[in-house]
Amino acid sequence: MIEKLVRKNILNLKPYTSARDSFLDGILLDANENSLGSTITDAQNLKLNRYPDPAQNQVREKLAKYLNIDKEKLFLGVGSDEIIDLLIRIFCNPGEDSVLITEPTYGMYRVACNINDVKVLSVPLNRNFQINVKNTLKKVQKNTKIIFLCSPNNPTGNLLNKKNVLKIVRNFNGIVVIDEAYIDFCEDHSYINSVKKYKNLVIMRTFSKAWGLAGIRAGYSIADKFITDLLFKIKAPYNLNKLTANAILEALSKVKQKNNFVRKLNLEKDKLIKQLKEIKHVKKVFPSDANFILFKVKKAKDVYVKLASEGIIIRDRSDQPGLEDCLRVSISTEKENNNFIKKLKKVI
Ligand SMILES: Cc1ncc(COP(=O)(O)O)c(C=O)c1O
Repeated sequence: MIEKLVRKNILNLKPYTSARDSFLDGILLDANENSLGSTITDAQNLKLNRYPDPAQNQVREKLAKYLNIDKEKLFLGVGSDEIIDLLIRIFCNPGEDSVLITEPTYGMYRVACNINDVKVLSVPLNRNFQINVKNTLKKVQKNTKIIFLCSPNNPTGNLLNKKNVLKIVRNFNGIVVIDEAYIDFCEDHSYINSVKKYKNLVIMRTFSKAWGLAGIRAGYSIADKFITDLLFKIKAPYNLNKLTANAILEALSKVKQKNNFVRKLNLEKDKLIKQLKEIKHVKKVFPSDANFILFKVKKAKDVYVKLASEGIIIRDRSDQPGLEDCLRVSISTEKENNNFIKKLKKVI
């Protein structure tokens, strides 16, 4: 029963309500807005002087159609980072409960736990950056509420083995969150279709990567209605702003453009992997199912600093468990990728 996993104060919470939960049109005298207009030009007539729809209806309808799922399973956040935080706040009692992560992985799971005073249990991924199911389940404690899995995983770039992931989903009596931030780069491997079957499963996705919209701050989750309703219950009333919602609607009518980006980036990725492998001092190039590549060089920190002084900013991941001397580079345009390789050869 998922209900048993939810913090009592959240189950009992009386959420903030506004008249906009019931009315979005009419003579709106309920929210102390400025009825005279906006200080800036509202070029798209979004009525920026008015608060946005708390239920995110228009966006959820269009996104649900695109994903071919029920709208009631969808929730939008200020990036998936907001959703990570909300999930921890729904399920984990500060100072009591724990979250399990498999490292190396995306850093915000740990940070969000630390902010919320929730203990982090960490299990290392194996040498191929895959989950060891037995060790992972063994690490679970009585008060472990959530397991975060990331597939494709950041910063390693690989998809997690599907059988293993589903074993965790089936055998863990808590919530399993699968972060699919990079799924557009290998769409067939999504777990969306498993949400119907597993009530403890939450999928997270984002507009920040393949869609090219990191600047609008939009991510979403797909989960059973019970969990989705809890997200709506505790979110800030108007978390999805009108400019962002409008940008998402526009993006969803440009799926072809997104797919073109994915195709191009994946082609560039293959080229870049080959080029990296040809550099003698690059010790290892890891395979990637995402829009970045993890690679190993001698004295990674020095290489990172020297590249930065050449104007090329990549990510030093060498302090992460299991990632000694590893750097991560995002795939970019052909020109910038070539520039990166040229400068890498120079500083190495
Ligand atoms: C695995 C993973 N999840 C989530 C995020 C955050 O996404 P958003 O921009 O939607 O907050 C990132 C960003 O780098 C990421 O790598």
